[in-house]
Amino acid sequence: MRTLAIIKPDAVRKNVVGKIVSQITESGFTVLGMKMIRISRQQAEAFYAVHRERPFFGELTEFMSSGPIVPIALEKDNAVTDFRGLIGATNPAEAAEGTIRKLYASSLGENAVHGSDSEDNGRLEVAFFFAEAELADNLS
Ligand code: CMP
Repeated sequence: MRTLAIIKPDAVRKNVVGKIVSQITESGFTVLGMKMIRISRQQAEAFYAVHRERPFFGELTEFMSSGPIVPIALEKDNAVTDFRGLIGATNPAEAAEGTIRKLYASSLGENAVHGSDSEDNGRLEVAFFFAEAELADNLS
């Protein structure tokens, strides 16, 4: 099963990309694809379209387009649930000890990492950032 992780602009600015990637791979996830990119406001709005009506949509899309991000396509049995466990609660104040958000996030809005919330969204979100042909399990 696949899931999409994004290391968000706050964590990139804190220079903890390497530590987060290490924690992800040490937890049994295989990296199928990874890149550092900057997305436009419009791309952030498209990625988070499901949250369009939420009061924090403007803040969220401004933040996600404020600097480089690192989308990572991950593979693991039970990837979606296991990755959400690894990153911890959306609000770092509620995240369990040792989770990525507990370790590196500063607030609900600037919470260091994103993880897909379902298997379907995992597939869709991986496809948002990666062409199928550039993922490691599709090279022949
Ligand atoms: P993420 O997993 O990327 O999915 C949606 C994001 O919206 C979430 O992480 C939070 O960073 C952000 N978010 C959720 N609730 C709020 C809020 N009340 N204020 C600002 N951002 C929020």
